[in-house]
Amino acid sequence: MLLPAGLIALALATIVSADDNAVSVSTLDFKNRFQQSGIVPEVIAALDPSVSFYVSYRAAADGHTELLVPGSSLTIAEAGVPLEFSVENLNNATNITAQTRYLIYLVCCQTQESQSDAQTEQLDADAPARDNPSARNLRHYLAGNYTLSPAMSSVLTTAQRLAVSPQVFFPFTPFTQPNPQPNTGIHRFIYALYVQPARFNTVGFESVGMEQETANWNLSRWRTQLGLGPAIGATFFTIDTTANGGQGVSSNGTSVLTPGAAAGLRASLHTVGLAVVMAVLGFVTLF
Ligand SMILES: *[C@@H]1O[C@H](CO)[C@@H](O)[C@H](O)[C@H]1NC(C)=O
Ligand SMILES: *[C@@H]1O[C@H](CO)[C@@H](O)[C@H](O)[C@H]1NC(C)=O
Ligand SMILES: *[C@@H]1O[C@H](CO)[C@@H](O)[C@H](O)[C@H]1NC(C)=O
Ligand SMILES: *[C@@H]1O[C@H](CO)[C@@H](O)[C@H](O)[C@H]1NC(C)=O
Ligand SMILES: *[C@@H]1O[C@H](CO)[C@@H](O)[C@H](O)[C@H]1NC(C)=O
Repeated sequence: MLLPAGLIALALATIVSADDNAVSVSTLDFKNRFQQSGIVPEVIAALDPSVSFYVSYRAAADGHTELLVPGSSLTIAEAGVPLEFSVENLNNATNITAQTRYLIYLVCCQTQESQSDAQTEQLDADAPARDNPSARNLRHYLAGNYTLSPAMSSVLTTAQRLAVSPQVFFPFTPFTQPNPQPNTGIHRFIYALYVQPARFNTVGFESVGMEQETANWNLSRWRTQLGLGPAIGATFFTIDTTANGGQGVSSNGTSVLTPGAAAGLRASLHTVGLAVVMAVLGFVTLF
């Protein structure tokens, strides 16, 4: 079995500190934040999540593991290390069994908002129609065969991990670290979770003609091509390339959209064990 180069470095990371104050985000809050940010409908035509979908990352300030709440602002370095995927309320999603597999993507696109208005991203006057997202998307990651792990999230104890074993890990698009150019505005990055149609338990996405090309990814055409239902969960973060010499700013686990609500999400508890999860996820990192 061949492993990505970054894996060894990740597996050697021994002690990781976790956020001990992470709080759940309701599916309604996820939905609202996607709308407030304009991602719905600019990037995704609609989002009605049945699960709370979380990613965790390592905060630049203190190295602690933080829960990505929808709308978090990350630095480029933070965005390059997704440590763990997890979900809450999976029993609320339809057609889920213990055997169900999932696929996850990361896509980016740039906002057209004014940089001073990051908290209430305004749609352009000529905002696209709901059924015709107009954003130009770049795919940073796409992989299937994730399953629900019996292990709980190391950051949010009520969330269950999603993991993919190395034997069935064939990322269609290996993870490439977000690295937007300085002074190109605020970029939005979206992770989304879908139920994987059963046919892809044995064949890859190329079997239905999906192209390797990552630029100008048309999400609605892709969904039709793969026969996917709507995303069952999604989350997003931003990178502000106008700040910090283009490296972006960290919101330290708080959402830029609700600055008050997440106060107190700062980390302090020390835990171990994420190295195993990182090895399972098998991310390629480009440090
Ligand atoms: C689960 O779905 C029901 C019905 O759609 C909804 O009322 C409830 O709020 C959902 N529960 C959670 C935790 O999202
Ligand atoms: C659930 O499965 C049934 C039977 O396979 C199918 O008809 C239905 O469209 C599925 N629902 C969703 C939301 O995927
Ligand atoms: C899932 O794993 C199988 C091997 O068990 C592989 O053939 C298939 O391509 C994988 N599907 C995806 C979407 O990665
Ligand atoms: C994406 O694909 C859909 C369906 O094929 C098409 O209607 C739409 O115009 C495409 N969007 C872009 C931006 O190309
Ligand atoms: C995040 O933490 C760092 C270091 O503690 C601090 O310099 C920075 O201002 C914080 N960012 C926010 C948005 O609070």
